[in-house]
Amino acid sequence: PFTAVWAPDGRRVDVPAHLSLLAALRRAGVPVTSSCEAGVCGTCRLEVLEGEVDHRDSVLTEREKLSSMLACVSRAKSTEIAVAP
Ligand code: FES
Repeated sequence: PFTAVWAPDGRRVDVPAHLSLLAALRRAGVPVTSSCEAGVCGTCRLEVLEGEVDHRDSVLTEREKLSSMLACVSRAKSTEIAVAP
């Protein structure tokens, strides 16, 4: 479990182990576009402003991973992560 901070409005969203970041954000009313929901299309990519990411996708380059993540599969290694569209 970790906490996602939705940077545009500072909203804090708890992401329990059984929910993806994408699902938790949606449940909190944050609309994030998705397609494959399996870490392969890149549609759900979010900018990462703070925190350490546990990348679980199979499409982002190492360079892209420095500042973004795919919300459908990837999670946080840190207790908190700040993301933006
Ligand atoms: Fe396709 Fe997340 S929805 S990578």
